[in-house]
Amino acid sequence: MKLMAANWKMYKTRGEAEVTARDMLRLIGPDLPKDRQVLVFPPFTAIETVARVFEGQSSFAVGGQNFWPREEGAFTGEVSARMLADLGCSWALAGHSERRWVMGESDELVGEKIAFGLAAGLRMVLCIGEKIEERRAGKVEEVLDRQLEKGLVGLPQDFSAETLAIAYEPVWAIGTGEVAGPAEIAHAHTHTREKIVRLLGEKAVSTPILYGGSVKPGNASEILSLDNVNGVLVGGASLTGESFSRITLA
Ligand code: PGA
Repeated sequence: MKLMAANWKMYKTRGEAEVTARDMLRLIGPDLPKDRQVLVFPPFTAIETVARVFEGQSSFAVGGQNFWPREEGAFTGEVSARMLADLGCSWALAGHSERRWVMGESDELVGEKIAFGLAAGLRMVLCIGEKIEERRAGKVEEVLDRQLEKGLVGLPQDFSAETLAIAYEPVWAIGTGEVAGPAEIAHAHTHTREKIVRLLGEKAVSTPILYGGSVKPGNASEILSLDNVNGVLVGGASLTGESFSRITLA
């Protein structure tokens, strides 16, 4: 199964989200290969709108970009995993580099979110990836290992493989137009596969590992053909149905 994920970040009012979601259904729906699943991560305010458009479409799912890892409580400005599920989310992201590096989220908080979200019944995408200075210093494997170890620390032994996905997103390739080369992607994904199998056991052989960072219609099919690339997480090029449909059908 390949996961074709759209991360809309802080874009789109409800009306704009509805138009794009309908465009996606129209342009992708009939032609989506059986082994592909579309996931859309709208901003909180548009989740319900997109979930309504996708209702009854088993190949289209909706996720939350973030939540706070507590059941409920005095956490002004936050939403809970249960609130996301209530709006129609079956997935959520944790560890996106913008949350790590703009909002200052630690590896430990990311790990709490993964464990909490899974326990709350959401499927989770753990995002990992090195900064450019870490790559230049030869620390890619070290950074990925640390983010995977801390991100997956609270995973129950009996987790089921289809409830978790990893997204490798080199920070220097996100929103920059700069894509990691095929050899860099293949190396990071193979390393990630080996590491999660060591951490989680044989089940992790089938955990999807997505690539993210300046994925576009013109580079998607090459990226998707690489070993251990089981989907893509797309930001900028997921904002129109036209562009995202060309990626999902690539
Ligand atoms: P981008 O973003 O496709 O705009 O580089 C990817 C992401 O942040 O998930």
